[in-house]
Amino acid sequence: MTINWDDLHTAAVAAMKHAYAPYSQFPVGVAGLVDDGRIVSGCNVENASYGVGLCAECGMVSHLAMTGGGRLVAVWCVDAREETLMPCGRCRQLLYEFGGPTCQIYTPEGIMTLAQILPQAFGPADLDAVRDATATT
Ligand code: THU
Repeated sequence: MTINWDDLHTAAVAAMKHAYAPYSQFPVGVAGLVDDGRIVSGCNVENASYGVGLCAECGMVSHLAMTGGGRLVAVWCVDAREETLMPCGRCRQLLYEFGGPTCQIYTPEGIMTLAQILPQAFGPADLDAVRDATATT
């Protein structure tokens, strides 16, 4: 499927402008292309209890689920300068759940797959493998 990276960047910047980041002063926006052509997006939402703040990717996967689900094909995350930002480690795991190893990520070093930025990922297949091996019926 054709990925319009300009559209994804535009959506990520628009999302970043909704960020609630009074504690870090570090707004983040992210947008993802879904396999049915939808674009989903999210912004970071912080909290006075710092540790419960939500990364932009959390909002994006919630948007994905709320609007019909599907698989993430491509993702672009940006900072307040509208520059490319690498998803944090936890968020790479979030993206893996809904995009898998082939999901394309726009990085400062060019377009990479999720498998490249989260090698040897733990995912749903690991759960299936153990469940299948230990099934008693
Ligand atoms: N942040 C994200 O929203 N996504 C990332 O992948 C990296 C970090 C947010 C969390 C926090 O609100 C702020 O950036 C500073 O860490």
